[in-house]
Amino acid sequence: LIEAVNAREILDSRGNPTVEVEVLLDDGIVQRAAVPSGASTGAFEAYELRDGDKSRYSGKGVLKAVAAVVDELGPAIEGVEASEQRIIDEILIETDGTDNKSRTGANAILGVSLAVAKAAADSADLPLFRYLGGPNAHLLPVPLFNVINGGEHADNGIDFQEFFLAPIGADTYGESLRWGTEVYHVLKGELKSAGYNTGLGDEGGFAPDLPSNREGLDFLIRAIEKAGFTPGKDIAVGLDVAATEFYKDGVYTVEGKEWSVDTLVDYFADLVANFPIVTIEDALAEDDWDGWKKLTDAIGSKVQLVGDDLFVTNPKRLQQGIDLGVANSLLVKVNQIGTLSETLDAISLATRSGYTSMLSHRSGETEDTTIADLAVAVNAGQIKTGAPARSERVAKYNQLLRIEEDLGDAAVFAGRSAFPRFKG
Ligand code: PGA
Ligand code: ZN
Repeated sequence: LIEAVNAREILDSRGNPTVEVEVLLDDGIVQRAAVPSGASTGAFEAYELRDGDKSRYSGKGVLKAVAAVVDELGPAIEGVEASEQRIIDEILIETDGTDNKSRTGANAILGVSLAVAKAAADSADLPLFRYLGGPNAHLLPVPLFNVINGGEHADNGIDFQEFFLAPIGADTYGESLRWGTEVYHVLKGELKSAGYNTGLGDEGGFAPDLPSNREGLDFLIRAIEKAGFTPGKDIAVGLDVAATEFYKDGVYTVEGKEWSVDTLVDYFADLVANFPIVTIEDALAEDDWDGWKKLTDAIGSKVQLVGDDLFVTNPKRLQQGIDLGVANSLLVKVNQIGTLSETLDAISLATRSGYTSMLSHRSGETEDTTIADLAVAVNAGQIKTGAPARSERVAKYNQLLRIEEDLGDAAVFAGRSAFPRFKG
């Protein structure tokens, strides 16, 4: 039974405050969870409550959310069995009482929801992935390493936010981690010798001032080859365009030019024809449903099209996309929706509808590794949690090494099978 719930304000990887929650059970178990935070957030995400008190952390403090946990959310679940996750998440949602979790804050609610799951797992003496996923949790995800950072995550001129390496040809997760990391180091050398800055962006990727988005993909391919791998066969590439950030009134501003949606769709079709691209996320803006439909009809059979700001891990937005035949993959961010149960609902809706799911960190992260366990629990087959650098990113990749070791012979690396549309 849940005996007490405590919360505090801690710092995330960008030096901004965030919420950490601790749950104590009557058997003496204590577990904690910390909440991540985005920069290129979607307009339809659950509400992140910040104090707005300019005298502390430029208004970004989370003392109100912390107080909501201690005074309201915690007391509302005291005495409830910790394994009753859905009931607990229902109570949290009802206690908040708003549609988008804006009264107590999705950051407060998520912290409680995740800490409860971890405490229940510990109390059952099970690793989190096993507690959440049961006996069939065995699939190790392909790590999508974000090795070039642009957009809102870096102070450079690159419009697209993320450039991924996807080591789909490895035999094990551990091997895929090594391959991606080796290419990451080679990429640094290549950027350096071409005269580019090798400082890091928010997610641990390099943040060079490249002249074009295409040049980013060229660098990835060169680094893959130079590290001794075959592009496409061993290591594929991918993009998170985060297009909402450069969309306004029906116009996409890319590389200083104003592009119509048709031009942009042709541009992506050309990229997919010329590079071994397995996945493109948020290729278009979060409310450009017509554009998304055109894009999906044009290239959705050849490449994974992921909805992040488009779906915001929300089963209702995802259902809308499924009904319209838009995109074919769900990005999963626990703090976009705010409870573990609703996150699992979104993933099962995706799976039932033939959409893939990619687990995801946020650009503001902590040492919390819950998403690594969640990826294996639901056999998602894909995770993106930054470059293989910076401890808040590497914490998740390292947790997956432990899970692979724990599973032993039962572990299966998703590899190519995670991307059923990829023919390259
Ligand atoms: P965010 O970026 O965490 O800053 O929203 C991640 C993403 O867009 O996938
Ligand atoms: Zn995204």
